[in-house]
Amino acid sequence: MTTTESHTNVTAQSLIERSNRLGADPRNTNYAGGNTSAKGTETDPVTGEAVELLWVKGSGGDLGTLKESGLAVLRLDRMRSLVNVYPGVEREDEMVAAFDYCLHGKGGAAPSIDTAMHGLVDAAHVDHLHPDSGIAIATAADGEKLTETIFGDKVVWVPWRRPGFQLGLDIAEIKDKNPQAIGCILGGHGITAWGDTSEEAEQNSLWIIRTAAAYIEEHSVAEPFGPALDGYAALPEADRRTKAAALAPTIRGIASQDRPMVGHFTDADVVLDFLAHAEHPRLAELGTSCPDHFLRTKVKPLVLDLPAGASVEDSIARLKELAVSYREDYQAYYDRHATPESPAIRGADPLIVLVPGVGMFSFGKDKQTARVAGEFYVNAINVMRGAEGLSTYAPIDESEKFRIEYWALEEAKLQRMPKPKPLATRVALVTGAASGIGKATAEKLAAEGACVVIADLSLENAQAAAAEIGSTDVAVGVHVDVSSADAVQSMVEAAVLAFGGVDLVVNNAGLSLSRSLLETTEKDWDLQHDVMAKGSFLVAKATAKVMIEQEMGGDIVYISSKNSIFAGPNNVAYGAAKADQAHQVRLLAAELGEHGIKVNGVNPDGVVQGSGIFASGWGANRAAVYGVEEKDLGKFYAQRTILKREVLPSNIANAVFVLCSAELSHTTGLHIPVDAGVAAAFLR
Ligand SMILES: NC(=O)c1ccc[n+]([C@@H]2O[C@H](COP(=O)([O-])OP(=O)(O)OC[C@H]3O[C@@H](n4cnc5c(N)ncnc54)[C@H](O)[C@@H]3O)[C@@H](O)[C@H]2O)c1
Ligand SMILES: [Zn+2]
Repeated sequence: MTTTESHTNVTAQSLIERSNRLGADPRNTNYAGGNTSAKGTETDPVTGEAVELLWVKGSGGDLGTLKESGLAVLRLDRMRSLVNVYPGVEREDEMVAAFDYCLHGKGGAAPSIDTAMHGLVDAAHVDHLHPDSGIAIATAADGEKLTETIFGDKVVWVPWRRPGFQLGLDIAEIKDKNPQAIGCILGGHGITAWGDTSEEAEQNSLWIIRTAAAYIEEHSVAEPFGPALDGYAALPEADRRTKAAALAPTIRGIASQDRPMVGHFTDADVVLDFLAHAEHPRLAELGTSCPDHFLRTKVKPLVLDLPAGASVEDSIARLKELAVSYREDYQAYYDRHATPESPAIRGADPLIVLVPGVGMFSFGKDKQTARVAGEFYVNAINVMRGAEGLSTYAPIDESEKFRIEYWALEEAKLQRMPKPKPLATRVALVTGAASGIGKATAEKLAAEGACVVIADLSLENAQAAAAEIGSTDVAVGVHVDVSSADAVQSMVEAAVLAFGGVDLVVNNAGLSLSRSLLETTEKDWDLQHDVMAKGSFLVAKATAKVMIEQEMGGDIVYISSKNSIFAGPNNVAYGAAKADQAHQVRLLAAELGEHGIKVNGVNPDGVVQGSGIFASGWGANRAAVYGVEEKDLGKFYAQRTILKREVLPSNIANAVFVLCSAELSHTTGLHIPVDAGVAAAFLR
């Protein structure tokens, strides 16, 4: 019976712990880069005899957060038998499918391309890592000589070879021939280290990484990126963020010509320092080198060739020119190397855009991917600094870069990715989203794949609502008073710096004071018109500018009200403000259509649950007007409707989603009533 009990083998357990420790320090390996393994025995449930197994980090996943489910488990005897059927380097990719025939039990995670290296090297514990310091040596023009100088015969140089079965055989042979060696530098790529025990492998990995880093520190030339470039120093922080926000929509548009992208911005010192020195254009052009990078960052970034002080207008004009040549260059690179078997071109837009004095914009299919692309380029800068400090940066040949970027195995991985959610890549901004209808709308849009910016009067409440939805890769909270043009501008800047731009705006912020004409003060009138009529005008104006600059279309949705149509007593200021909003929908639909921006509205009614408006007096007032208890107001409203259903915040949120989804791509200027049916407010 013991064989069916779930348990973690001690060897696997120590492997997970070692991997987590190594992966927790970004100096040891890049995000999701590298893999680790351990060999050991377990009782075969079929024969009752001991069986030798290989536990190895599977495809995808990150060492820092590796769990047992992320390990592939293979039978070592079968894996090593593959040597006898290996058809040679031209057909080495076929061996990946053969790994499936070596799995023990269900095998765990899918074995990665690096499985061969781990299985074939004759050591109980193997680490393959992508440390910046190790890649710096691996990409130095005289990397082989440097390896000998730095490590003596303890670490052996392995010339560049694309990861795969042959690289595994190469490393296994090197270990056999160099019994004194503890690991190797893989040219153009990274490091591999080994040990008889898990501790020994870990110590050997860390020794290589730290020895390389210390050597670079001690022997690097003073200015590895060349002398400071006049006019390219970082702008003061406030200025560079303002400029970044002004450029962001244009840059996102440039990165999204083939497919829409989410953006990430960083003004980290590493990036600003790189851009402030003379050699950055040459180095950026040489491109990145570690195999992990090509799908994430493309072979090279787009670099704005203007000084930090260039105006926003000049920068935008130049970026647009550079985008055209970037796309031509990328197409030419594809055409130079593609064979009839190559996967189709995956789009020619840059994934990394560098702006001197300001920082780096990086792009991906979601925020996490965009952020990691930026992290990878920071890795690439560190690698270039190390390599140039000791020697000359010499990444792998362009043809090899292409073989990795358009590798059939990578393409297969991409094809296996789950279908994106309906609002994936879209950046939504919802005002008044810390409560009620706005909060439900933000939750719905996030659930459908959007990145959301939750804007509200209280920053604290906005951030709390965002945290309920998820990490800052999914939702961020920002402050806004929609009745202030300055505050709206700051909100839009925060949004574009968080996600690269804005595509979907929900004008939801509002409040309601139920008073008769004679009791309505001038202040009551102004407040409601300032927040709802003027506020949504200001938000529409500032966000439409972003959308027009992005050239990616967009959606603006107004949460107006049944009361924009329906006339009843004690509602003159609120009802008039709502009617103003409702007409803005039609006016802006007519004006913004040429930019692909749709403008629609939702007319809710009687949403009591979760509504701050009802909780703060309006509900008590309405209940008194109708002669019911406040807690029964929702049910009372339901009885007034045609469908006799209570309207919930989620019903409004669903309508917003539908208006912005692909299904209503040809609808603009429409209001959808979500009121469970109120004949007096029918649209005609
Ligand atoms: N609840 C209903 O039955 C109902 C019916 C029709 C229309 N509406 C409209 O729906 C919208 C949301 O209402 P709710 O019921 O969820 O109310 P709510 O009070 O729960 O939420 C409104 C949010 O707007 C925020 N807000 C107010 N003034 C702001 C300002 N100047 N700047 C930024 N944020 C501000 C508030 O802080 C609050 O978080 C409002 O426009 C309201 O008029 C509601
Ligand atoms: Zn690798």
